[in-house]
Amino acid sequence: MKKMLAPSLLSADFGHLAHDIEQINQSDADWLHIDIMDGVFVPNISFGFPVLKYVKNLTVKPLDVHLMIVNPDKFINECKSVGTMLMNVHYEACTHLHRTIHLIREAGMKAGVTLNPHTPVELLEDIICDVDLVLLMSVNPGFGGQTFIENTFNKIERLRQLIARRESKALIEVDGGVNLTNAPQLYAAGVDVLVAGHAVFRSENIVQTVKAFKS
Ligand code: DX5
Ligand code: ZN
Repeated sequence: MKKMLAPSLLSADFGHLAHDIEQINQSDADWLHIDIMDGVFVPNISFGFPVLKYVKNLTVKPLDVHLMIVNPDKFINECKSVGTMLMNVHYEACTHLHRTIHLIREAGMKAGVTLNPHTPVELLEDIICDVDLVLLMSVNPGFGGQTFIENTFNKIERLRQLIARRESKALIEVDGGVNLTNAPQLYAAGVDVLVAGHAVFRSENIVQTVKAFKS
């Protein structure tokens, strides 16, 4: 399985957004990771669909949208209308996760479920065959540039076992504190997609950094 990278736009220079997105267009990045925060589910507000509408017109990469919001069901249509490829909702934000996942898929998008660092992967036992991807948070969501939580390696291993046992096709994505130092170990542990914000957008050369992640 090809190892993928999804740079997180949250760490881009919002004063020069078009420039930073163009750098990603010219790089080997696989997806563009989009962090939407509501100030309720997480203690921060980022940007919303009016901004994403313009981002979509600037990027050539598939959109990996990570919704850190309560009631994500309300925004399935908005996600679809900005051309989202993969819509990630938090396990902790969905009372009726099975319904949410199926509504996302019926809308024609891939469906991902995201787990906060404290949420055990075993809670996915009865939904793992319905999702296209599991996003493991390796920091508490809300901010870029935080320190990677090492227990994530333990969760990756348990998630791999669950996926294998249930014969699920779900991909594994990891988000938070990912950098060029821990990336090889994470890919080797079985991660399919790494998200990286600061490590990519705050580097000297975005294109070269993406290349380094993927080599
Ligand atoms: C955190 C977001 C992440 C964030 C990652 O709540 O979900 O996607 O942008 O940023 P880094 O890679 O800087 O930890
Ligand atoms: Zn994210």
